Amino acid sequence: MMSHMKIEIAPSILSADFCNLERDLKAIDHADLVHVDVMDHHFVPNLTIGEPVVQRICEVTDLPVDVHLMIEDPDRWAPEYAKLGAASVSFHMGATHAPVRLARQLHAMGCKACFAVRPAEAVEPIFDILSEFDMILVMTVEPGFGGQKFLDNQMAKVRRLRDEITKQGLDTKIQVDGGVSPATAHIVAEAGADVLVAGSAVYGAKDRAKAIDDIRAKAEDAYRD
Ligand code: DX5
Ligand code: ZN
Repeated sequence: MMSHMKIEIAPSILSADFCNLERDLKAIDHADLVHVDVMDHHFVPNLTIGEPVVQRICEVTDLPVDVHLMIEDPDRWAPEYAKLGAASVSFHMGATHAPVRLARQLHAMGCKACFAVRPAEAVEPIFDILSEFDMILVMTVEPGFGGQKFLDNQMAKVRRLRDEITKQGLDTKIQVDGGVSPATAHIVAEAGADVLVAGSAVYGAKDRAKAIDDIRAKAEDAYRD
């Protein structure tokens, strides 16, 4: 059914060694994107990195940089990440005040706009503005930390979203983030996700390249079913 879709794997550097970022970016150079989690101790109970480090990441990697903002006031800060060279910026439903204005502002800067929803947030409220976004991020854990258990109860949401995207004739991507591994890749792809973020499953593995290949293979299997 969804055989035309291409699976993209986005390793999350949240589980990389922050003192060896350049080395750990090289280890994933055959992924499709690099997912960078920005947290502010307010929107989520964790604090990671901000503009100066994201700027260096954009400078040293050849991969498109996918910035996931888990911060308050993304309306204020998201354009700064676009300016630094992010290929896409995700901002949260629970934090943004004017998502359409922000998406258009990012597009005007040549950056893709992605809308993120947490496990308790429904996607239906954004169906009327779906065409404004390049990608919708469905969290499959509560945002804030790597290594949490995958919430399979989010798959119905992914399915409803995929149906709506098809109905509207859009090519919006669906990204899933949290607990994605070779064990869960099949389920998320089967539900209709095409961009898979994986932090601990990639960086927790000895062979990062193999972990990426395994996740990709399991997801592609779902398309062949
Ligand atoms: C969690 C972050 C994720 C995190 C995923 O809030 O948004 O990107 O790195 O980590 P894993 O894949 O270990 O669940
Ligand atoms: Zn993330």
